Amino acid sequence: MKATAIAPANIAFIKYWGNKDDRLRLPDNGSISMNLSNLLTTTTVEFQQELFDDDVVIDGKQEKNATRRVSKQLDLIRRRANIQLKAKVVSHNNFPSSTGLSSSASGFAALTVAACKAIGLTLSEKELSILARQGSGSAARSIPAGFVEWCSGKTSEQSYAASLYPADYWDIVDIVAIVSREKKETSTTKGHALAHSSPFFSTRLATIDTKIQRLKEFLATRDFSALGELVEDEALELHAIMLTSKPSLLYWLPATIQIMRLVRYWRKEGLEVFFTVNTGQDIHLICEGKNVERVKTLLRTIEEVNNIIVNKPSAGARIIRDHLF
Ligand code: DP6
Repeated sequence: MKATAIAPANIAFIKYWGNKDDRLRLPDNGSISMNLSNLLTTTTVEFQQELFDDDVVIDGKQEKNATRRVSKQLDLIRRRANIQLKAKVVSHNNFPSSTGLSSSASGFAALTVAACKAIGLTLSEKELSILARQGSGSAARSIPAGFVEWCSGKTSEQSYAASLYPADYWDIVDIVAIVSREKKETSTTKGHALAHSSPFFSTRLATIDTKIQRLKEFLATRDFSALGELVEDEALELHAIMLTSKPSLLYWLPATIQIMRLVRYWRKEGLEVFFTVNTGQDIHLICEGKNVERVKTLLRTIEEVNNIIVNKPSAGARIIRDHLF
């Protein structure tokens, strides 16, 4: 059977960085995110008798590394269904992939949901999240809806994401400022493996649970100022770990830093907006819905910003009827 799924990328308020088991993608710490309504992957999967190998096309291209990673994920699903057929996979991102905009989160969430349906497996949201996690850690968080928590867990079966609040719980907006379309130099997967080499990583792990509790409190009370401060602080802590890893990872471009400084200046001037950054140069600005137009107008005055993507909280991964082939 043929099946198609759509899945959102997500922005982590508390970041996933470092694994206690790299192969299983069992994270060192829990994380919290919001699904993004406008960064989407659509994927169609069909298992076919006549194929000798998986045939994977992402954004019109066939690439060896991407195909290998997709095939590994399909192997997990084939094993579970006890079916050996190879699959045709066509996937489309509505945004540039591998630039740090979390295409692996939306990509592996959509692939997992579509492939399970196509092979005839009926799985719970928890089981889908566990499977998606093994393709890309952050994909675990793109399965459930809205505001999501991924509990690290001690075993693979305990490490999955669940919704804290639905998408319509809070009118928070994530505005992505794209400052370059270059692919990042070091993949996120390699970055995770370096986390433990930072002398500050043990301090992060000793304090992260308190941070997660505080963030959950700010979500529960809808305290935007406190949430924003914490999200910004967390992004800088993530990059402090990256910068002090061996070798050191530096993902920012001059425009990334320029926007960080401007955000702080705009805040001083009374506009409540905060930033967060992942493994890429592009920067996410977080504000409440009422301030979106002001933030967009300000971003448009920055020469280096070549695209702006506005995201509301969104539903999680789901099956749709329109196939890509
Ligand atoms: C900095 O989930 O992309 O965006 O498991 O290797 O695919 P892999 O890593 P990935 O890591 C995301 C790292 C991050 C923080 C986050 O989204 O939590």
